[in-house]
Amino acid sequence: MLAGMSLRHQAGRAVRRVRRSIEPTAPPPTIDGQQPLVGHDTVDVRKLLDTYTVDELSEAADDYYRKNLDGVDYYYAKPVGNIDEAPDLLICFAQVLAGVRPIRGMRVLDFGAGTGWTSRMLTQLGCEVVVCDVSATALDIAAEMFERLPVAGDQPAPTFLRWDGFRFDLDDESIDRIFCIDAFHHVPNPAAVLAEMGRVLKPGGVAGFQEPGPNHSKTAQSQFEMKQFTVIENDIIMDNIDEWGRAAGFTDLRLAVFTSDQFQTSIEGYNDFLAGGVTRTHLYEHMLPFVGERRIFFLSKGERATADSRERRGLDARLEIHLDAGPIGAGTAIVGHATATNTGTTHWLASDAVQGPVLIGVHLLDAEGKYLDRDYTRIPLPRGSGGGVASGEAVAFDFELAAPESPGDYQLEFDLVAEHVAWFEMNGVPTTLLPLVVT
Ligand SMILES: C[S@@+](CC[C@H](N)C(=O)[O-])C[C@H]1O[C@@H](n2cnc3c(N)ncnc32)[C@H](O)[C@@H]1O
Repeated sequence: MLAGMSLRHQAGRAVRRVRRSIEPTAPPPTIDGQQPLVGHDTVDVRKLLDTYTVDELSEAADDYYRKNLDGVDYYYAKPVGNIDEAPDLLICFAQVLAGVRPIRGMRVLDFGAGTGWTSRMLTQLGCEVVVCDVSATALDIAAEMFERLPVAGDQPAPTFLRWDGFRFDLDDESIDRIFCIDAFHHVPNPAAVLAEMGRVLKPGGVAGFQEPGPNHSKTAQSQFEMKQFTVIENDIIMDNIDEWGRAAGFTDLRLAVFTSDQFQTSIEGYNDFLAGGVTRTHLYEHMLPFVGERRIFFLSKGERATADSRERRGLDARLEIHLDAGPIGAGTAIVGHATATNTGTTHWLASDAVQGPVLIGVHLLDAEGKYLDRDYTRIPLPRGSGGGVASGEAVAFDFELAAPESPGDYQLEFDLVAEHVAWFEMNGVPTTLLPLVVT
């Protein structure tokens, strides 16, 4: 038995529980650019949806994992279980990650998380992850995986939530970001799921999806899965997503155009591409099968909340520092004056914020420029408008810092730092280097 864990199981709705067999239908027409379609005994996903209840399909999803427990190591190894799928899994997840941009400290719902590899990545990024799946067995495996492969550092512990097919046991507007990797096309009630996502997502939140395309149900692999496991392998039709998304309160739908199928060319081809030659057309042609068969999309709920110093992107500053003249005794206080101007595009969080606070960071160097202590001290900034320092705002203040305990010739280098995010110097902000003589 897999390691125990506390799941918040929910009672399913009262539904009919009449199980009927799925009769094969006539083969569908061939679709250009798709995997070979099965010719006989074709399962029509719509018939599957009409035949089984949401609860029955939820049960089938759990059954799928129970039947595959012998191969549990594959789930622990995911996304690098085998080379046939690893590049695609990683590239597609990276695309969703780049579109959703969860920030350290955010509460993230990983819907259809399965055995949890994406949840583990998101936890490693510092997010507070709700690992959610319809299968209690998959969640058990996920919990075991977190035990066996703990994330590095002190990250928020994930919570595990069983999806009952209808409603998240989560408060309204309690989630900052939603991930749904290869799971939405399995749900029998997609409009209702999107409505639930819209309910729990905060204004300014984003939900990112990686799903197959409009002909998915007819591929050989989908046919196999539906016949063998009674799992829904639905087609993803973006017009439907758009309509259901709007009804759920989402205000924008964007799709990512890329391919996980690498395009390689010669040096000549690369130069031709850069010069606008025919290689550009070759790239587009190369991308088409992937772009036709996949849908990586993002649903936003209102304008994204203004970015802040939990992200390196957009951090920029002008920092002016002056130290009072005169001899400095070892260990005594050095008095200085600072003006820090936020010339970037994002809000600096207050110096006592839990995530991404902005402070002045001081490095100690010897007279020759050798670093003696890169974290010599931190100087908090005063609060400006809105708690921290807004884009375009300047704060001017006096400060004190302790001189080194040993007499000698030193230098102090002043920079700004978004704690655990970035030194501003990394974004091209000049530091201020000042000599210091300690007597
Ligand atoms: C292909 S797996 C992807 C899991 C995970 N996101 C990953 O990338 O490893 C699809 C997930 O959808 C879930 N699923 C299957 N049928 C479902 C249903 N009827 N309702 C909700 N989720 C379902 C499964 O439990 C499964 O974990």
